[in-house]
Amino acid sequence: MIDHKDRTSNTQWGSKLGFIAAAAGSAVGLGNIWRFPYITGQNGGGVFVLFYLLCVIVLGFPIMVAEVTIGRTTQSSPVRAYGELSNHSRLWQTVGLVGVITGAVILSYYSVVAGWGLHYLMLSLVGWFPQVNTPEAYTNLFDSLHQSVGLNIWWQSIFMIITTWVVLRGVRGGLEQVANIGMVTLFGIIVVLTIYASTLPGFGSALDFVFGHAERFTWVSALEALGQAFFSLSLGMGAMLTYGSYLKLHDDTVGTSLVISLADTAVAVAACLIIFPITFSVGLEPAAGPGLVFINIPLALHQLPFGGVGMFVFFLLLFIAALTSAISLLEVATAFLIDSLGWRRLKAAIICGAIVYFLGLPSAASGGSGLFGNGMEQLIGMTWFDAVDYLASNWLLPLGGIGISLFVGWHINSQRRLSEFREGSWLGSLGWVYSVWVFLIRWFAPGAIAFVMLNVLGILS
Ligand code: PHE
Repeated sequence: MIDHKDRTSNTQWGSKLGFIAAAAGSAVGLGNIWRFPYITGQNGGGVFVLFYLLCVIVLGFPIMVAEVTIGRTTQSSPVRAYGELSNHSRLWQTVGLVGVITGAVILSYYSVVAGWGLHYLMLSLVGWFPQVNTPEAYTNLFDSLHQSVGLNIWWQSIFMIITTWVVLRGVRGGLEQVANIGMVTLFGIIVVLTIYASTLPGFGSALDFVFGHAERFTWVSALEALGQAFFSLSLGMGAMLTYGSYLKLHDDTVGTSLVISLADTAVAVAACLIIFPITFSVGLEPAAGPGLVFINIPLALHQLPFGGVGMFVFFLLLFIAALTSAISLLEVATAFLIDSLGWRRLKAAIICGAIVYFLGLPSAASGGSGLFGNGMEQLIGMTWFDAVDYLASNWLLPLGGIGISLFVGWHINSQRRLSEFREGSWLGSLGWVYSVWVFLIRWFAPGAIAFVMLNVLGILS
């Protein structure tokens, strides 16, 4: 049995900024750049975005504080953290374990999308794009990648090897180092691309679409927005808890969670302000689905000055964002095996990477005509890929959010909760901040999430 209170230097962040970079790196990912714009498009923009922002403020941020704080105080990965604070209750440890599994499931299809990004990064490097600038040519380009099981598996393998390699190098030498370099590059690219997009003729219509536009809003859209908030902030499966466990016992968790939530939200909004102007400037549809950034961006950039460079920069952004999130997904399962079975990091990371890889093969085959693609689509109306994404982000993550809220709100000792919230944090030492947070965690978060879910299931309506 290893003494988890005695973290070695490679299982602790080198600096507070290192933690912020790594946690922001986990949050900012394909969720912001690929998923948020396309589901915003599918849900009609406007009200959807406002509801999303509301979810981030009243659910996401308070739950992030809860996760990071539980991680810091126990210095343990999720299952062990739940166990330690609940006298080893089976039920609570199961909540932690469901989170670990959810992370593996998410990474299994996340790595496929990241692989598409790698493919496009290669295309932009060699300049191999269709000669004709028609939407059809670019749709075909994406479709042929999407349908090719071999290509999907190839790029997914490469991405998983890179991810596993970073994780096996450890917290300081792997996660933190990659996050530090990655985040500086990422924010630089975001600023440049946003400025560029603001000069395009479609910028006005994009602003109107993202903020102005009111369309019907359904419970299904509400659940999508809620699930997206959990997905984008890396909540509900223990990633933030695990990253919090590498903090020192007196590091601030409230203030840093605020910074991370703000950074993530800023990038999500910026991504819309990059992608929609480009989409509208060339007269394309905002509701294109998962292919949105892979079709519209290259098509539009191809027609613009320095488009080749722009394309490389955009897909580099996508790759960095995907990698720093993927390592946090893999880290949760790796830390679980290290903590519970006492395995060495090298062994744990490789085994987890391999499991996730095999779990991801059906997702890689989801664009094809076989069982996981067309077959399942005909059976249940969704490919394997769509089904696991829907299940993990709209249901498993918010359920995990209910779990951590109930745990922190009702289960743990209230004296400890108060002192942990205050520890090392200026914001946390304000009495009213604590009261609002406790209310949100105890009542509002579990209630609101359950309410939306019951409505979607048709139980309340
Ligand atoms: N937050 C990441 C993104 O937006 C995805 C993620 C979800 C990472 C859950 C970790 C945990 O892409």
